[in-house]
Amino acid sequence: MIYIKTAEEIALMREGGKILAKTLDELSRAVAPGIKTIEIDKLAEGLVLKYGAKSSFKGYKPKFYEGEKGYPASVCVSINEEVVHGIPGERVLKEGDIVSMDMGILYKGFFTDAAITAGAGKISSQARKLIDVTKKSLEIGIKEIGQGKHLGDIGFAIQSYAEQNGFSVVRDLVGHGVGKYIHEDPEIPNYGFRGQGLEFKKGMTLALEPMVNIGAPDVKILPDGWTFVSSDKSLVAHFEHTVAVTENGAEILTKL
Ligand code: MF3
Ligand code: CO
Repeated sequence: MIYIKTAEEIALMREGGKILAKTLDELSRAVAPGIKTIEIDKLAEGLVLKYGAKSSFKGYKPKFYEGEKGYPASVCVSINEEVVHGIPGERVLKEGDIVSMDMGILYKGFFTDAAITAGAGKISSQARKLIDVTKKSLEIGIKEIGQGKHLGDIGFAIQSYAEQNGFSVVRDLVGHGVGKYIHEDPEIPNYGFRGQGLEFKKGMTLALEPMVNIGAPDVKILPDGWTFVSSDKSLVAHFEHTVAVTENGAEILTKL
């Protein structure tokens, strides 16, 4: 079921999206050697509260999750070969780590979702390239959205760009509709074929989230039941925006 949002609903998501973007921007500035990932979580929790919003990940049980308690933190912090859903804790960031921070919030009844990857201190040129390519692949994917175009156009564009740069895209995790719920239909793969899949319609609100891998695309889940890592332990970067489909393209809602 795809929920088409009204202009009023999208206006609320735009407000929430701005709060989320500001929060992630501040988190990215906090990423540095010596900081504990739990400190990033504390900062995130404090910031969203200050802005009158709530973390939507805390206590959430995604489809793949088999446990009882739900996700234990406000922000997913995934380091190096970790793809998504890393749990903040006592781990201390080291110079050269790359850190993906993925966060969802609830504001005035609507959910938005976004992620960024930042480097701690000086990072390798390959890590820099991975981050830049992943960020750009998200922008390229968003540009594909428009009347008469299809979901597959997003995946095709993201996959082509990542692969042209010698990287691969994670296939086991996908983007999704978002707004009334954290995860709504449709699923949005970061791979695919032009012209395939659903046609875009004005009022759809979508979370696009390419996860790009330096090595092979395969991922597995750690015994903690949450953290996805690349099977070959190579670096992964992750960027995500919530967007609204408009008359002639897409508006990024999770921007500053
Ligand atoms: N990372 C997921 C997304 O962006 C949601 C995380 S759910 C959590 O869609 F429970 F793990 F936090
Ligand atoms: Co998401």
